[in-house]
Amino acid sequence: DGKPIVVLGVFVADTTYHAERQPKIGETILGNAFTLGPGGKGSNQAVAAGRLGADVSLITRLGEDAFAELAKTTWRDARVKPFVTPDPESYTGAAFIFVEKGSGDNAIIISPGAAGRISPEDVEANAERIRSAGIFVTQLEQPLPAATRALEIAREARVTTILNPAPATPLDDAMLALCDYVTPNESEAEALTGLPVHSPEEAEKAARVFLAKGVGAAIVTLGAAGCLYVSRERTERIPAMPAGDVVETTGAGDAFNAGFATALARGEDPVAAVRFGCAVAGISVTRAGAASSMPRLEEVEALLRG
Ligand code: RIB
Ligand code: NA
Repeated sequence: DGKPIVVLGVFVADTTYHAERQPKIGETILGNAFTLGPGGKGSNQAVAAGRLGADVSLITRLGEDAFAELAKTTWRDARVKPFVTPDPESYTGAAFIFVEKGSGDNAIIISPGAAGRISPEDVEANAERIRSAGIFVTQLEQPLPAATRALEIAREARVTTILNPAPATPLDDAMLALCDYVTPNESEAEALTGLPVHSPEEAEKAARVFLAKGVGAAIVTLGAAGCLYVSRERTERIPAMPAGDVVETTGAGDAFNAGFATALARGEDPVAAVRFGCAVAGISVTRAGAASSMPRLEEVEALLRG
C-alpha cells in the first residue's frame, strides 16, 4: 500500500565468497563458503520495498541469459513490477563479493553489463511511470545521464526524489539540487563533500554541504552508530536497531533506503521513516545475501515494537 515507488537501478547476480581474508595478487586461498544470489543496488532496493508491501516498479536493463532469469524470478517473488529494456548485445551483470569471516564486512567488484548501458532514452520510455510515482529512488551504479534525466522528470512532476549516492561518483551540484533526500554512508559522504566523516559531528558538517548544494535533507548512515538526519529545520540522531548477530552487511544500505522510501510512501514523516529504514537494515545484516536478506513488514514491525 501507499503511494507508488519507482526505482531506477541495476540488477546483478551476486557471487559471494566467504573467507578469512582477501587473497593478494598472485595468491590463491581456500574459502569457507560460496553463494549465488540476486543483487545490484536498484534491484535490492526494489525487492526490499516489495517485501515490505510497497507498490514498487523497477526500471532497468538486462541481458538475455541465465542471470536475467534469476532477476525475473526474484522480482516475481517480491512483487516488484519490472520495466526492462532487453539488451541482447550485452550480458546481465555480476558482482564479486568477498565477505570477511567474523566481521561480515565486504569488498565488492561489480560489472553491471547491460545495466551499465541504461540510457536517458530508457528513462524517457518510462517517463509517465516516473511522473505518476509518489517516490522516485535511484543510485549511482548505472550511468549518470540516465539517473540525472530521471531525477529531472521526477522533480518536474513534484515526485519526492531520493538519491542513494552509491557507489560514490563525482556529482555536479545541478544533479544534487534535484534531490529531496540524499542517503550517503560515511565513505560516500567523505568522497562527495571532501570532508572527513568519522563521527556524528563530522557527518553533520558533511550533511550541511549537501544542503548548501540544494538537497532537501541529507541522511548519513553510520553503520552500527545509526543515522544522522539533517534538514534546514531539523537535526536528529537515529540509533541503529540491532536485531541479532551480524552475518553479512551486503545490502544493508539498500535495506535502509527501501525502508525509508516505503515509510515515506505511506505518509510517515521523514524522521520516522529513517527509524523504519534502520529497522529494515538491522534485520538484513543478521542474514546472508543482499536481496535474499530483506525482511517482511511483520518482522520490521515486531522489531520496532521491541
Ligand atoms: O548494495 C549492495 C549491492 O552492491 C550488492 O548486491 C552488489 O551487487 C553491489 O552492487
Ligand atoms: Na545481509
